[in-house]
Amino acid sequence: MGTRVILSGMRPTGRLHIGNYVGALMNWIRLQNEAEAQCYFMVADWHALTTDYEDPSQVESNIEAMVMDWLSCGLNPEKVVLFRQSWISEHAELALILSMITPLSWLERNPTYKEQINTLKDKAISTHGFLGYPVLQAADILLYGATHVPVGEDQLPHLELTREIARRFNFLYKKSVLTEPQALLSPVPKVLGMDGRKMSKSYGNTVYITEEEKELSNKIRCMFTDPHKVKMGDRGHPNPCPDNPTGCMVFQFHKMYEDSKNAGSREKTCMEGTLGCSPCKKDLYDEMNAALKIFREKRKTIKKEQVAQLLKEGSEMAQKRASETLRRVKDALGYR
Ligand code: TRP
Repeated sequence: MGTRVILSGMRPTGRLHIGNYVGALMNWIRLQNEAEAQCYFMVADWHALTTDYEDPSQVESNIEAMVMDWLSCGLNPEKVVLFRQSWISEHAELALILSMITPLSWLERNPTYKEQINTLKDKAISTHGFLGYPVLQAADILLYGATHVPVGEDQLPHLELTREIARRFNFLYKKSVLTEPQALLSPVPKVLGMDGRKMSKSYGNTVYITEEEKELSNKIRCMFTDPHKVKMGDRGHPNPCPDNPTGCMVFQFHKMYEDSKNAGSREKTCMEGTLGCSPCKKDLYDEMNAALKIFREKRKTIKKEQVAQLLKEGSEMAQKRASETLRRVKDALGYR
């Protein structure tokens, strides 16, 4: 297998939560340790404008918080190139060129687009930029000749569009300039939030990866457990069942954080009624706190100025590669 070129990006939404970590970042960190992989990870700050163009005032601070979290989780700038989309003008240029060859119908039938237009009803996102979101994303990927793109399931339609756009470009200009990328799906497709819905900032059910002890403890205390287990001695139902389809959320979180040796006995004692919900929550707190402590401690060693410097250096490196691809694209068009 030759060198794999890995590219992925995240919109700067601020502090990361466990869902972002398990759904994406964990996969990035795993890939950075592969000898044969060259990794590019991008702050998708132009993409942030597609939904927040009315008030972009938080973008800068969100970028800083997000990149600090990337580093806190163990993303290593000596092994990967970290860069910022808006600092590399080639992204905007290639997106413009690709927009010329992308049929509107491809964008209009994109399921992610249709879903977002429905869920973000109160935002005015019937814009050219929002419809063209996947064209910009295709430019992000194709500029680096990425062979593999680690993403969550929700991004698969965008990846398919990227492949179609690359194919169309190569076909129209009779040169194979652009590489069709493959998706690398995260092993854990989605993490549920404290309330059993998908973990998401907009639902207010997140746990931040650098959550402080006090807040973590509060959040765990507020989690609901089996509604039929009210007093000491009641038998619990930790697993999903028809009247409680997500099961007990505390138990679901134990599955992620607990040593698998203990999981069996926890389930058994809960079902027998000998394990109460309070001590069970206390155990969860201890497990999660131990895991998050590592990130919190690491975060203390990272300085804000370091983030700007890293992005500057990374962006310079990334731009070299991006400008070569853009040159080849222009050559294929016959533009000087
Ligand atoms: N659309 C992606 C998301 O919302 C972010 C993104 C932008 C991206 N450009 C990318 C992901 C390029 C992978 C590759 O999560």
